[in-house]
Amino acid sequence: MDKILVTGGLGFIGSHTVVELQNEGYEVVIIDDLSNSSEKVLDGIVAITGKKPVFEKLDLKEKDKVEAFFAKHSDVKGVIHFAASKAVGESVNEPLKYYENNIGTLVYILKELRKLPSAGFIFSSSCTVYGQADELPITENAPVKQAESPYGNTKQIGEEIIKDTCKVSPNLKAIALRYFNPVGAHESVEIGELPIGVPQNLVPFITQTAIGLRDELSVFGEDYPTPDGTCIRDYIHVVDLAKAHVIALKRLLEGKNKSSYETFNLGTGTGSSVLEVIKSFEKVSGKKLNYKVVGRREGDIISAYADTDKANNELGWKTGLSLDDAMRSAWKWECKVRGK
Ligand code: WQD
Repeated sequence: MDKILVTGGLGFIGSHTVVELQNEGYEVVIIDDLSNSSEKVLDGIVAITGKKPVFEKLDLKEKDKVEAFFAKHSDVKGVIHFAASKAVGESVNEPLKYYENNIGTLVYILKELRKLPSAGFIFSSSCTVYGQADELPITENAPVKQAESPYGNTKQIGEEIIKDTCKVSPNLKAIALRYFNPVGAHESVEIGELPIGVPQNLVPFITQTAIGLRDELSVFGEDYPTPDGTCIRDYIHVVDLAKAHVIALKRLLEGKNKSSYETFNLGTGTGSSVLEVIKSFEKVSGKKLNYKVVGRREGDIISAYADTDKANNELGWKTGLSLDDAMRSAWKWECKVRGK
């Protein structure tokens, strides 16, 4: 079967996607610089699939190393590109780190793909490109708004770079997948989310609070114009998200894409508030969560959830796992990681 490169393949979404690629029989090569992951994740992947992907520790900012990689792996047929910095807050303080790491590396990879006979490119994008959308649910035609952070800007710029490159590269076609909020872990709990330091995202903060690593969860505001006053997001199980990547890649490899550059929203289509996520966690874990409502977090949008029609109809993909499934697996994973 075709050889697929997964950059950032030892990360949270990357590792779950490697598992689904291997389940479909693809030969997987992982590049990861281990800046936000660990080589131990490979053991988790092998424990699930019994197959060890080729792993090359490589910093994609090193152009000559990227060239050497593709010279060695000129039989790569597709690339799923996860490798990027993704902390919204950090990006505000260190914009150049984000522009160099998220944009510079993308350019180097696209330059190499243009040299191959043909290649399919899947780009890890984000619903963050929409900002606070004027209409909900959010379709792929919703206007891309002024980015709220350099991180969000790198996703917007990245999409433009890919679109422009595909226009002049007959051998290259691409799909940008705009994720909503990825959560949960593989049911085997051999892989999951491993945030380094204090988690920025809601679900790992919930599970770390419940396991005793954090004293209490701060709920950032309950005075929003939503039914219970807390922000609404579309929490998608990471395994559903991973499966969508394999389907999107197949669409390109089988030439079923309708244009050289396409975008798809990946969400459940259902919005959940912060308090609803907490309630789901308490239900599936049987634990009472210690939380306190505090002030709003700078830059938070009120509500975002996906219109899933295009992904359902064009990709033939829809989510199969629920918020409860995601919270249950996230909690099982947290317990395993902390040896509880
Ligand atoms: C979700 C909700 C918070 C933490 C970000 C990025 C997005 C994507 C996913 C990469 C919000 C509330 C959170 C906490 C809280 N990342 N919250 N207490 O901000 O929707 O999206 O991560 O692609 O690009 O922007 O996710 O999990 O940080 O927050 O109350 O300790 O939970 O206010 O309403 P977000 P999040």
